[in-house]
Amino acid sequence: MKIISAKCIISAVGPDQYPDTGYPEIAMLGRSNVGKSSLINSLCARRALARTSGRPGKTQTINYFAINEQLYLVDLPGYGYAATSKGKHREWGEFITNYLRDRDMLALIVHLIDLRHEPMKNDKNASAWLMRLNIPYVIVGTKADKISRGKRPAHIAAIRKGLMLPAHVPSLIYSSETGEGRNELWQHIRSVLSKQE
Ligand code: GTP
Ligand code: MG
Repeated sequence: MKIISAKCIISAVGPDQYPDTGYPEIAMLGRSNVGKSSLINSLCARRALARTSGRPGKTQTINYFAINEQLYLVDLPGYGYAATSKGKHREWGEFITNYLRDRDMLALIVHLIDLRHEPMKNDKNASAWLMRLNIPYVIVGTKADKISRGKRPAHIAAIRKGLMLPAHVPSLIYSSETGEGRNELWQHIRSVLSKQE
């Protein structure tokens, strides 16, 4: 995918701030620190379009990035960020789940799981919820550069098994460090969008 333009449109704190341009939206869902914001930068081939951090809990708003004036990549806050209070957890949960459940323009959810580890309980909960949602989603195993090539298939298989993924849900691997997986993920995004036209 050739990126002609990539712009941060808004950091939304509520639905009234979501853009009304009508572009299809591709949302990044996953545990805090799994690499959602980094993945957006990598997909856009921009270094610091989305803010990233070594510390979990960096992204706190729903951030819209307009790509080629054609689609939005949507960066979501991560789940499982331990330092948040219980009340805030609930608030966050509702903010994100309402977006995923109610947003008409949502075309695809990218569910990110750290390729190094077996899925955690909150990953499993999120995945079970996605299965019932009826919106296309894809699993992306992140930080692939930390796993040797030969071991990657076993790791992705463990993730699929841990999440009890149905066979029709695709899974890819990605490294935002090296850009591996970039073409495959763009290809997948394009194929989902072309089916919806
Ligand atoms: P929150 O905003 O807190 O939900 O986190 P996030 O999922 O947006 O994670 P972010 O992109 O900020 O990345 C978290 C950390 O992981 C940063 O230190 C990144 O540099 C690192 N990271 C992200 N992707 C990769 C990757 O593909 N490989 C490696 N080695 N590190 C990565
Ligand atoms: Mg982030």
